[in-house]
Amino acid sequence: MKPITTNIIFGDSKEKLREIPDNSVDLIITSPPYADSRVNTYGGIKPDKYVEWFLPISSEMLRVLKPTGTFVLNIKEKVVDGERHTYVIELILALRKQGWFWTEEFVWHKKNSFPGKWPNRFRDSWERLLQFNKTKTFNMYQEEVMVPMGDWAKSRLKKLSETDLIRDESKVSSGFGKRIANWVNREKAYPNNVLHLATECGNKNHSAVFPEALPEWFIKLFTKDGDTVLDPFLGSGTTSRVAKRLGRNSIGIEVLKEYYDNAVENINNKNDISSLVVEMRQPV
Ligand SMILES: C[S@@+](CC[C@H](N)C(=O)[O-])C[C@H]1O[C@@H](n2cnc3c(N)ncnc32)[C@H](O)[C@@H]1O
Repeated sequence: MKPITTNIIFGDSKEKLREIPDNSVDLIITSPPYADSRVNTYGGIKPDKYVEWFLPISSEMLRVLKPTGTFVLNIKEKVVDGERHTYVIELILALRKQGWFWTEEFVWHKKNSFPGKWPNRFRDSWERLLQFNKTKTFNMYQEEVMVPMGDWAKSRLKKLSETDLIRDESKVSSGFGKRIANWVNREKAYPNNVLHLATECGNKNHSAVFPEALPEWFIKLFTKDGDTVLDPFLGSGTTSRVAKRLGRNSIGIEVLKEYYDNAVENINNKNDISSLVVEMRQPV
């Protein structure tokens, strides 16, 4: 097995991304600072300025991503003055203008979201996971994220009707069709685009950690052993830690010294034998 590298870089992504060669990254997965919401911890970006702030960074991401690569953006619009701000929608449109294809939107259903009572809305229990690509033909290893068929299959597939044995074309001429009989004796099915994951409760000394299962799912889906994963807003180091465990090279960038140190510690502290070489860049 070829040794892998885990590069943790201290600095601002806007500058540090310039050090990464063109077309060298297979997957970018990241959760950038949310607009304004965490102003007390690492500085928020004003919702109205979010797109303007993000575009120079995403332009570098577009340059470093391989044509076969994927960019997954975890984001959620906040409520401003009683309504959802539109910066995420504006960002999607701006990214498309910048040259990205908006391929898909996954939903992260936060299984353990904090209960609460608001006068005009219910508690927020999901976030967006926006998938962007440089081209329409990108690497995707769907078999790596297959899920057990589940109990429904036992009863549904026990007695097949005549229609189940042939390809049943869509009644609304959507072009979609299905042949139920294809799924008999199968143990696994392809998942849907909703990820049901609990938020991270372990103390990683960071206020906005995502669960390890989140980058893990996308790393398995969009990369193979020895590929390179980038997180330009590394936080506590979750993406790099998971990439290392799965035998992928990774680059993580974090602007706050305290979080950078914490990420290095989190990544090194794991009892992990998959990475043979760990290369840390020191803060300047
Ligand atoms: C939402 S947190 C990421 C959390 C991460 N997914 C985890 O699991 O720990 C965003 C991080 O981006 C960092 N950040 C903000 N602006 C940055 C920039 N321009 N360059 C690099 N890091 C930045 C913040 O300090 C913060 O730690």
